[in-house]
Amino acid sequence: MATRGAINAEFTRKLPKIELHAHLSGSISRKCLHEIWEQKKATTPSLELEDPFSAIPPGKVDYDLKTFFPLFSSYIYKLCSDLSSIRYSTNSVLNDFQSDGVAYLELRTTPRTYPEHNISKDIYIRTVLSSITSHNENLNNQMHTNLILSIDRCNTLPEAEEVVDLAVKYQSKGVVGVDLCGNPFKGEIRIFGPAFARAKESGLKLTLHFAEIPLSATDDELDTMLNWKPDRLGHVIHVNQEIRERVTRQKIGVELCLSCNVHAKMITGSYQNHHFGWWMHSGVGVVLGTDDVGVFCSPLSQEYYLAATHFNLTLSQLKKLCEEAVEIIFGGLEEKERLRALYRQWDGWVVREI
Ligand code: IMP
Ligand code: ZN
Repeated sequence: MATRGAINAEFTRKLPKIELHAHLSGSISRKCLHEIWEQKKATTPSLELEDPFSAIPPGKVDYDLKTFFPLFSSYIYKLCSDLSSIRYSTNSVLNDFQSDGVAYLELRTTPRTYPEHNISKDIYIRTVLSSITSHNENLNNQMHTNLILSIDRCNTLPEAEEVVDLAVKYQSKGVVGVDLCGNPFKGEIRIFGPAFARAKESGLKLTLHFAEIPLSATDDELDTMLNWKPDRLGHVIHVNQEIRERVTRQKIGVELCLSCNVHAKMITGSYQNHHFGWWMHSGVGVVLGTDDVGVFCSPLSQEYYLAATHFNLTLSQLKKLCEEAVEIIFGGLEEKERLRALYRQWDGWVVREI
């Protein structure tokens, strides 16, 4: 097996990758948002929304948690508010992940409603799923995608139950799990226990945004979440040794997002200080994720490159990381077997020493 020098940006782009932590609306590129805006402006000149290139300037990635969440409520959701823009942006996100060499994607999204366009949460999910199905069924595409439905921390219990209803309803159409996301400064998460219990009883998997900021990392909150028996956790930043041991004992997979955490200043220091360095030796499955590539502009190939560079990964460590990610996907046995075979047979592992 070759040396670390072989792991360059070209290598990580070609590497077949698994993306398990990507929010649909946060993954839409500025270019795609601009195209949707141009189209709307052409048909509705009175459109009051500003051009995405000025609302979310190209190259700007220094969004912190205070400036990040309003991007959705005050801009992206207002722009992608009808069926054609939801379809267009979903297709664009799928194509972007595939072009970056993603072989398997679990995309997540929060069901939303636009009564003014007769779009219910059910119609929103059906629209997203229909784009995913077409993409999966196109034999020219190597990437397979499943969907995770998100419950927002600000939801009420009936709203959370509605998300679980939709996840159960569309389980046979590619919904594989539910997520808890949203602004970690807000919400009372304890109310969601019954909704998550029902999701698990229905055979759905569970992933939770976990310990993103100190305020959402109290002993009480983390204990409540771990008692829901999550299958995976996202971010896992502000955790003490006892929680780390519980996560390890419960064999919960962790989804780590380097660039997002660095740009949003969710961690102290930079890439080399990221807790990936701890989790990669913990024995639990670790998977790198982009979180919101449309905002933080670091595709998954770059996340692998950053991890390899800052943690001095050998090729065999990188291979192990990829192979272990397969075991924590929410997709079924057939998908796991496809990915295992893909890594077994990938000719990129045999590279010349540099
Ligand atoms: P959507 O669910 O497809 O609409 O994607 C955007 C949503 O994902 C946002 O409104 C947030 O609720 C959620 N989200 C994106 N990034 C994060 C994060 O880093 N932490 C928590 N929630 C997030
Ligand atoms: Zn996230």
